[in-house]
Amino acid sequence: MKSGRRNALKLFAAAAGAATLTPFLARNVLATRETEKSPAVPWPYKKLDLERVAERAYGGYYQGACCYGAFEGIVGQLREDVGYPYTLMPSEIMVFGEGGVAGISSLCGALIGASSAIFLAAGGLEGKKRGEAFGLIRELFTWYEQEALPNYRPKNPKFEIKTSVANSPLCHASVTRWCKATGFKSFSRERAERCGWLAAAVAKHAAELLNSRLDGAFKPAHVLSSEVQTCRSCHDKGGTLENSRGLMDCGGCHFSSAKVKHP
Ligand code: HEC
Ligand code: HEC
Repeated sequence: MKSGRRNALKLFAAAAGAATLTPFLARNVLATRETEKSPAVPWPYKKLDLERVAERAYGGYYQGACCYGAFEGIVGQLREDVGYPYTLMPSEIMVFGEGGVAGISSLCGALIGASSAIFLAAGGLEGKKRGEAFGLIRELFTWYEQEALPNYRPKNPKFEIKTSVANSPLCHASVTRWCKATGFKSFSRERAERCGWLAAAVAKHAAELLNSRLDGAFKPAHVLSSEVQTCRSCHDKGGTLENSRGLMDCGGCHFSSAKVKHP
């Protein structure tokens, strides 16, 4: 509440003090603040400075890991530039996402953190808003699967970091493909640094998507490969089998169509 609201409260408190506010009234003001409800999502958005987002995410990585870093990169800046209601949102909630959720190595924590931030600034309960945020999130995931990452180099890195292509939004696949590409161990300081750069890169791309949405210029730049679309035409919604669902690269786990035994 850095904006007018806090100032208004200060002014009110000063005026009230001057008028020798009764303790009863003072208690009521406090009670109102304590039970203050957060407004419905999406929350107000101001164009983000991408460099600031990335640097804050990288710094955040070394405080609360990947998910916290990516979230804080975006929400920390909105807390500064927009203020309320982002001041109500503690980034600490995102610490759970570390290492693909509590080190389980399921979904990449940077993706969880950035998607959560996208949803606060662009989502909502209502179908149309939900769909709009899902569009941004899907673009973020497909970008993550297909691009050589991390593609952001922090200003003061601890090491130089090489890129790899994850082919998957999963922490496990992403980390292990990077280890395979670079020869570093999965619990090395270099791998940690790589995930710091990655949190920065993911937050930065998410912020880019939010900015382009604000301009009414968002268009998905990454699409599933034609191979995956073919798989889905039989196995996904409306297909002859309809026995799976998903927008991940099937090859991330089923390796290649050539290796799947088809009748
Ligand atoms: C033309 C329709 C069609 C397409 C396209 C297709 N499949 Fe299948 N798939 C089938 C059928 C039919 C089966 C056999 C189902 C059964 O026997 O129950 C099958 C079986 C499978 C199985 C289970 C059998 C196994 O060998 O493990 C997997 C996994 C699978 N498909 C994955 C894929 C992937 C990944 C792709 C894309 C690369 C793909 N499919 C494309 C029709 C298709
Ligand atoms: C994160 C890993 C992962 C990804 C990505 C993935 N799958 Fe699977 N898939 C699995 C696992 C695990 C099984 C279960 C294998 C088993 O129990 O034999 C499975 C099983 C299947 C089966 C077999 C069902 C059967 O009858 O045996 C089909 C069909 C299938 N997947 C299709 C797809 C398609 C299409 C895609 C891409 C859109 C995809 N999968 C992406 C992990 C994955």
